[in-house]
Amino acid sequence: MNTGNLSIKILFVCLGNICRSPAAEEIARVKLSQMLEGQSLFIDSAGIINFHEGKSADARMIHHARERGYHLKSVSRPVQIDDFEQFDFILAMDNRNFLDLIELCPREEYRAKIMKLCSFISSDSDFSKYSEVPDPYYGGSEGFELVIDILESSMSGLGQFIQKKGLS
Ligand code: 4NP
Repeated sequence: MNTGNLSIKILFVCLGNICRSPAAEEIARVKLSQMLEGQSLFIDSAGIINFHEGKSADARMIHHARERGYHLKSVSRPVQIDDFEQFDFILAMDNRNFLDLIELCPREEYRAKIMKLCSFISSDSDFSKYSEVPDPYYGGSEGFELVIDILESSMSGLGQFIQKKGLS
C-alpha cells in the first residue's frame, strides 16, 4: 500500500466496512481536510470481517450520506496486520471493534494508535451520550441518520487531537 510518507494516516474501522467506517472515511476527508489545511492526509477504512470484501458501501448508507453532501467511494476490505504499522490513528466505531483491534494488534508499540472515535465527541455536543457509533445494518433510516450525526460530531475533536499531536 502506498500511503505517502509525509501524510497523516487515519484508518476508520467497523465490522463490515460497508456502513459506518465508509461514512466516517468520507466525513473525515471533508472535515479534517478543512481543519488540517496544508497537511497531507491519507484516510481509509476497513472492516473486522471480510464478508463484504470488494463491495461498495451499503446503498442505504450511500443514500443518507449523499443527502448530507458526502459521496462514499469505499470498497470494503478487512483490516490487515500491516495497517497497524502503516496508520498513525486507528479509530474503532464500537466497543467490539475496539477489542477486536486490540486483539489483532501485532505489537505493543502500536496499541496507542487504537482509539474509539466517540471518545472525541465534545461534552457539550448533542451526541455526547454516545460512547459508540451504533450498528445501523439491521435497522431503519433513523439509524443511518444517527450514524452520520455521531460521526460529524466526533470530527472536530479528532482534528484537534491530531493537531495537538503535531504530526507532519
Ligand atoms: P458496518 O455494518 O459494520 O457499519 O459496516 C455492518 C455491515 C454488515 C454486517 C453487520 C454490520 N453484517 O453482519 O454483515
